Amino acid sequence: MSNQFRAIVANEQDGKTVGTLQTLTLSDLADEDVLVDVAYSTVNYKDGLAVTGTAAICRHTPLICGIDLAGVVRESRDPAWQPGDRVLVNGYGLSENHGGGYSQVQRVKGSFLVRVPEPFSLAQAMAIGTAGYTAMLSVNAIRDHGITPADGPVVVSGAGGGVGSVAIMLLAKLGFSVAAVTGRPELGDYLKSIGASEIVAREALAKDAKPLEKDRWAAGIDNVGASTLATMLAQTRYEGLVAACGLAGGVGLPTSVMPFILRGVTLRGIDSVQAAMPRRLRAWQDLAALIDPAALAAATEVRPLADVPALAKAILAGQVKGRVVIDVNA
Ligand SMILES: NC(=O)c1ccc[n+]([C@@H]2O[C@H](COP(=O)([O-])OP(=O)(O)OC[C@H]3O[C@@H](n4cnc5c(N)ncnc54)[C@H](OP(=O)(O)O)[C@@H]3O)[C@@H](O)[C@H]2O)c1
Repeated sequence: MSNQFRAIVANEQDGKTVGTLQTLTLSDLADEDVLVDVAYSTVNYKDGLAVTGTAAICRHTPLICGIDLAGVVRESRDPAWQPGDRVLVNGYGLSENHGGGYSQVQRVKGSFLVRVPEPFSLAQAMAIGTAGYTAMLSVNAIRDHGITPADGPVVVSGAGGGVGSVAIMLLAKLGFSVAAVTGRPELGDYLKSIGASEIVAREALAKDAKPLEKDRWAAGIDNVGASTLATMLAQTRYEGLVAACGLAGGVGLPTSVMPFILRGVTLRGIDSVQAAMPRRLRAWQDLAALIDPAALAAATEVRPLADVPALAKAILAGQVKGRVVIDVNA
């Protein structure tokens, strides 16, 4: 491989950091222990924020964007990793403080790396990506709370997006009845094909919630925040749990103490970026056991690196269905 490679790099533009396709050389990369030939990255909501400069995700410039990567180790000074190892990184500050995955090569800390589980190709690992691994963390929070399919349905907001789609697949595989909340009724057939049992209109939750409403859900996974999360809490059954992972609808939370003190509802925050390695390894092991490759394929499209700026705008506009894998070498 030549010394040159292509990457989506954030630079200052009119007071914002904006990602564009550029040609770099190996000397542009940070001096970290493991050099990875990247095969695939992904587009997550946070990538949309970073590449468009809508939020200050990139803490310094120039910085290679992309919070995920999967590839093969080329060189390693870390004894834990050898040339040829298939590896992935989710989060850990990639595209924030560290160079990210929208690049044909990247140098990363060995401590950030997870071995790609045996059943997955590198492309499948990125079809899951941060969105899918976050969905698994959320599902595990529900399971660890002792909630089972016999307790009732689980509601998932932002269902047509990445976290939502993978959460539906995982919950359905575990036997849960899943209510998929979407603002795109045209995605109904798709959501049912990956495991949803019921489609709920976005407006049914994105409204001013009463402190308590009819208790419908044993648990919930929320990608939206704001009034959607407040309604989910008000509709959650006694001793249920809501896993809050997203902010696609806003960062506020107009709720009251009533779901907590009268129904014993738990609000569980989910953070994928700094999650400790044992939780990551458990999540990836569980994903390997639970992901149905056909459902994952139905939720995934593969696009070239040059499409990232347009896809970043599309995901913020709520126009991306399921997961987008970026083939960095296409
Ligand atoms: N906590 C963590 O570590 C973590 C990790 C990954 C992601 N996240 C967050 O989780 C959320 C989902 O991430 P993602 O990558 O899956 O993004 P995504 O693919 O864009 O999914 C978000 C979905 O939310 C819905 N939505 C978008 N705008 C909305 C609005 N204004 N009001 C209500 N619903 C709206 C859309 O689904 P429908 O069209 O079906 O309604 C959209 O597809 C994001 O907020 C992201 O930042 C957090």
